[in-house]
Amino acid sequence: MILPASETSLQRAVEALRSGLCVGLPTETVYGLAGDGLNPSAVARIFEIKKRPAFDPLILHVADPNGLSRVAASVPEQARLLIGHFWPGPLTVVLPRTPEVPDLVTSGLDTVAVRCPAHPVARRLLELFDGPLAAPSANLFGRLSPTTAGAVETELGAALALILDGGPCAMGIESTIIDCSEGKAVLLRHGAISLEDIEGVVGSVPISTDGEKIKAPGLLSHHYAPRTPLWLWEGSLGDGADWDDRTGILAWNRAPVHPGPVRVLTPDSDPRQAAANLFRQLRELDAAGVSRIVAESVPTAGLGRAIADRLHKASSGVIRSRNGVLQEIPR
Ligand code: TXA
Ligand code: MG
Repeated sequence: MILPASETSLQRAVEALRSGLCVGLPTETVYGLAGDGLNPSAVARIFEIKKRPAFDPLILHVADPNGLSRVAASVPEQARLLIGHFWPGPLTVVLPRTPEVPDLVTSGLDTVAVRCPAHPVARRLLELFDGPLAAPSANLFGRLSPTTAGAVETELGAALALILDGGPCAMGIESTIIDCSEGKAVLLRHGAISLEDIEGVVGSVPISTDGEKIKAPGLLSHHYAPRTPLWLWEGSLGDGADWDDRTGILAWNRAPVHPGPVRVLTPDSDPRQAAANLFRQLRELDAAGVSRIVAESVPTAGLGRAIADRLHKASSGVIRSRNGVLQEIPR
């Protein structure tokens, strides 16, 4: 059930959360599937609803930096700097955890991921709830993150007490995750804050290479995927590109001549606009009944990196043309 985010519906959401139920929550990145982050059975319900494997830890959402003291055992200097600069906002920091955090939240890791969202509805709910909310993106495991209340309703509506409608998400891709648990900041997931902006605050930040194995078992390589196979097209889609009408095309900034469905990520060549459109347009192409989706390469400066990362993780592989012959190279 989708409810406009009024004080009354926020109160209803708080009651549902206190009784261990889950609600759909708008944030500036994507919609979250929120439950009481300190109640193990509410957290278990999140895993169950998402069909998420228990080895993939959740992010705790807090109302403000004061909320950290309950869940983080310490906050190293670089984390402090990043939090001071980017909270509230789309930055998740990984920190040593306190014993109060249920094991299920962290999948048994001795660290916890925490973020303070900027969306006014999320902030108000956190304030009223007065405790951390665990909230993964409100999609089935491995699928596209929802950026509208309607997308949450379609995929998970039946399992949720209610969905607060806060409008379409402004950013459209998930938070950037920085591991500060060992002091020095390391990037675990590209996201809505670019690496350049992070480095502007703490200097050079290495990108985790073992993220998928050790640090973040959940940063799996097949993720964010539409049901329709998605292929990456090397290079740009010239007007001559010759796909049939069973192919849906996700173009960067210009629609090619094409008999099937086409979406253009950013007519203005603006990575922010592209990020905000990404998951919605992939959903639309997924619903269009095509047999595959072909995505044009995106420029990888700034936020483009996070977009390219998600397209890569959603893809079955790369298609390229060699001497006029199309080759599919599975990932
Ligand atoms: O923007 C966002 O971050 C959204 C909104 C709803 O806040 N949430 C989100 O959550 O993207 P989720 O669960 O879809 O992604 C959380 C990621 C997972 O890949 C998980 O592995 C990683 O965070 N993570 C959680 N706890 C971690 C930890 N202790 N160490 C390393 N990675 C962790
Ligand atoms: Mg997710």
